[in-house]
Amino acid sequence: MGKKITDSVTWVGKIDWELKKFHGEDYSTHRGSSYNSYLIRDEKTALIDTVWAPFAEEFVEDLKRVENLAGIDYVIANHGEIDHSGGLTALMREIPNIPIYCTENAKQSLRGQFHEDWNFVTVKTGDTLSLGKKTLTFVEAPMLHWPDSMFEYLDGDAILFSNDAFGQHYATELLYNDLVDQAELYQEAIKYYANILTPFSRLVVKKIEEVLSFNLPLNMICPSHGVIWRKDPVQIVENYMKWANNYQEGQVTIVYDTMWEGTRKMAEAIAEGIGKASIGTPVKLYNAGKMDKNDIVTEIFKSKAVLFGSPTVNKGILAPLSGMLHEVKGLAFKNKKAAVFGTYGWSGESIDVLGKMVEEAGFEIIQPGLKKLWSPDDLSLNDCKEFGKAFASKLQAN
Ligand code: FEO
Repeated sequence: MGKKITDSVTWVGKIDWELKKFHGEDYSTHRGSSYNSYLIRDEKTALIDTVWAPFAEEFVEDLKRVENLAGIDYVIANHGEIDHSGGLTALMREIPNIPIYCTENAKQSLRGQFHEDWNFVTVKTGDTLSLGKKTLTFVEAPMLHWPDSMFEYLDGDAILFSNDAFGQHYATELLYNDLVDQAELYQEAIKYYANILTPFSRLVVKKIEEVLSFNLPLNMICPSHGVIWRKDPVQIVENYMKWANNYQEGQVTIVYDTMWEGTRKMAEAIAEGIGKASIGTPVKLYNAGKMDKNDIVTEIFKSKAVLFGSPTVNKGILAPLSGMLHEVKGLAFKNKKAAVFGTYGWSGESIDVLGKMVEEAGFEIIQPGLKKLWSPDDLSLNDCKEFGKAFASKLQAN
């Protein structure tokens, strides 16, 4: 029933071990998630955020075991999305007149979603709320990741409550970054950035620079999902600065879909060709029709170049790859090279259609596409290897 973080701050959120999909079906959460809510007790008591709607009643009952609800003076809603505001209806039924501190945009989104005339108090960057000995300072964070998003800083404890920013979909009882498996944590943090925050990278940099310019001590970052950054909290800030700056690692990723294995064979031969170029570039292959979309997006985010492959179907490409490119276009990845390939039986439009989509998604195509008729034979597969080798050489030259 609550986990004490400091003498003043207690975690009162919900760990969702069963969550496998988030944002409807849009985001895979292999390791579950958590909805972090924080209770701050000073001369006044403030509650930061709630939990996802299905856990609303459970949240309120658990909260009652930690704090007499009549003792709560302020509710702070950092963001209107219902994974954090979903507990408000049940909570406000108990304490209907308590002020809800939020941004003007959050007031709109909360009203639009819950249709309740709660006692909203809107705040702007620099506004403060005294809790007695300690004070909360609000920082608007529009587009990190909604127009209504907000952070706040608690002096004395030197904690930044960052809502979605710096979060991870990662269920754990261990609560702190230094206690969990570091590789799992990194994987969930970069996946979260790649799939949710990439379109707002410019704003991420600006916001981090703004917060750093305050020169405030920082003991912890408490996000609204996943672990609290307690050990070296600046590490996740530094990673965000890196990820926001057209991030790439050395790898090449091949993303394809296939109907009767021909395009798969092409993908594997191209990978072999890239390997034969001996430029030390790791190559990873993903079938967009079979593998997890968000994991593939994360690999694309990490790549310096991506090859996309599809056979021709109805004068176009297979739907899973088309859907993925639509998503990738929205994420606006930058500074990535590309090429396209695919098999065909009759008309063979896939590489033209795919090439156009890949360019529209922001990639730079560095060599003409490769198409092969029917199931590729040894000669065709040799062409694919040469295609891969040539692609690797162009990458190295760039
Ligand atoms: Fe975790 Fe944007 O909600």
